[in-house]
Amino acid sequence: MEQTSMPVDAPPTRSMPATFRPASATSGAAGWQVGGNPLAELAEDLGTPVWVVDTGEIRSRLQRLVAACSAHWPSGSRILFASKAHGHPAIARLMADGGADLETVSIGEVEAAVAAGVSGARIVLQGHGRTPDDHVRALAHGLRSFHVDACDEIAPLAEAAARADVTIDVLVRVLPGIAADTHPALATGVAGSKFGLPEGQELDRAISDIRRAGHLRLVGLQFHTGSQIHDSETFRATGAVAGRIAADLYRRLGWLPAVLDLGGGLAVPYGPDDAEPEPEAWIAALAEGFAEGWPDAPSPWPQLVVEPGRWLVATAGCTVYTILSVKPANGCVVVDGGLADNPRVALYEASYVHEGLLPRQSEGGRTWRLVGRTCEEGDELGTVMLRDPRPGDRIVGWVAGAYHYSMASRYNRLPRPALVLVEDGRRAVASRREHPADLLAAEVPSPEWSLR
Ligand code: LLP
Repeated sequence: MEQTSMPVDAPPTRSMPATFRPASATSGAAGWQVGGNPLAELAEDLGTPVWVVDTGEIRSRLQRLVAACSAHWPSGSRILFASKAHGHPAIARLMADGGADLETVSIGEVEAAVAAGVSGARIVLQGHGRTPDDHVRALAHGLRSFHVDACDEIAPLAEAAARADVTIDVLVRVLPGIAADTHPALATGVAGSKFGLPEGQELDRAISDIRRAGHLRLVGLQFHTGSQIHDSETFRATGAVAGRIAADLYRRLGWLPAVLDLGGGLAVPYGPDDAEPEPEAWIAALAEGFAEGWPDAPSPWPQLVVEPGRWLVATAGCTVYTILSVKPANGCVVVDGGLADNPRVALYEASYVHEGLLPRQSEGGRTWRLVGRTCEEGDELGTVMLRDPRPGDRIVGWVAGAYHYSMASRYNRLPRPALVLVEDGRRAVASRREHPADLLAAEVPSPEWSLR
């Protein structure tokens, strides 16, 4: 293509390895573009901070995972997108259209998916903190598949199913007792974790209680070893523990799981030095482990369920900020977002790549601390290379698609950012920026405050 419309001094496209950015990200004289949309233009039109999600990136990742499952687990599989990674209704819709069903942990996540037109039959409710009302509402939305995390959940679930006069599929969550190499807050499968039931009497009891209860059909076991896992050895270990436990239950109780849910957890790169784990290797490691844990498992194997969250959405997202002030004596640049739209740095010491939107902002620059606007010393997003930063300049933070929108808060009563979907030069605002009035919507007006 003719390049004559470019300014003569336009710098070449930057050449950092791009795996942590969406495949559509390009950088030229007008700055970074994602999904064919200049980020500067989105920031101008929608204000900042703004979350940008490249739907093409999510779609192609989902396609790749569907193919990996068919290639490496031939007895059939089902992908459940872990809604906690991005709970926006538009993301639920995108997943459902691409062939993934949804794993949810609250009625709020269920109702976001239902609002997007996803059928209840395609939504699974798990979580170890369900209320009786959650069961009633989930059943009313047509959900027929639940994961059980504790013996005490069984009777209320059976009761709700009986009242609704339906029979539901149940998987029991098993604690695999594997210490994944990840941040301690994300190692949910380690021995002693609050999640699932470890092998032993309580697990046996859960299985027999579900088998005896009316209106419940025990279909399988569920395992989840943790999140942001790079090492395929950990996934092989998960498959092996699942195989060994399934074999033991088969021999002792004569029960064969039809479904084996081996969780999510595949890591993504957050920067140029991080490895990019492959979904093919993930599924192959689960299969290898299962075969090792139960070498003479009856054929066909149980259907495989996987529950990826982060891997499908993280790299599709980025956040655009605006610099509010520059404080050379403190070595920091203050932006209009931070902890409230990305709590992951403060919570897990997560590290991110941030950079100026325009090439002129970084060349020959120095390192600055990038700090957020909340009144909290720990509100730092990391460091950023900038040359002559000025208020009003824009900054982009990559890998913001997972656990940002869904974990955002209104700390300091900051309104939550807008969320815009982009692909092939088109865009759609999926959440508008919150108005100041939204922050007061649930507060009872002052005349009502006199205590009675
Ligand atoms: N399935 C279960 C049962 C889970 O507990 C989780 C995540 C997933 C699937 C999805 O895991 P993923 O594929 O996204 O790794 N807020 C933390 C992550 C917490 C994940 C908790 N469970 C973060 O921002 O890193």
